[in-house]
Amino acid sequence: MIMRNVGPVILFLMLISEPAEVNGQELGNPTAGQKYAEVTCSECHAVLPNDTASKIAKATAFGTVANSPGMNELAISVWRQTTHLSMPNIVVKPNDMNDVAAYIVSLKD
Ligand code: HEC
Repeated sequence: MIMRNVGPVILFLMLISEPAEVNGQELGNPTAGQKYAEVTCSECHAVLPNDTASKIAKATAFGTVANSPGMNELAISVWRQTTHLSMPNIVVKPNDMNDVAAYIVSLKD
């Protein structure tokens, strides 16, 4: 019966050790998100924290995205459901997008 009580404790530890946590919700994994972004998004966007020069000038550097007013994972996930003219509709799995969103938010100064 003791094992039954372990689940919530582990969940709690995961929540408090997750840097991208917002309002107690469990969100994506920023480390996985960075790896994903380096592969999928860096073709156009500056992805790394100290990199402000995107390969495509119009593609906002992720550090800049992160520091835009009101930017959070919700805003990024809303954004991903809209189409952008100059950004191809890259198919990103929801889990990967959560990770990328967590990574972008982690770039906030
Ligand atoms: C082929 C080039 C290309 C790739 C690959 C690409 N983007 Fe973009 N992205 C753009 C361009 C260009 C814009 C800005 C113009 C627009 O909104 O259409 C943009 C805009 C954005 C914005 C909005 C920024 C703002 O200032 O509002 C976000 C967020 C974003 N991209 C995230 C991503 C993520 C996450 C990936 C990888 C999964 C990705 N992009 C891959 C070209 C790209």
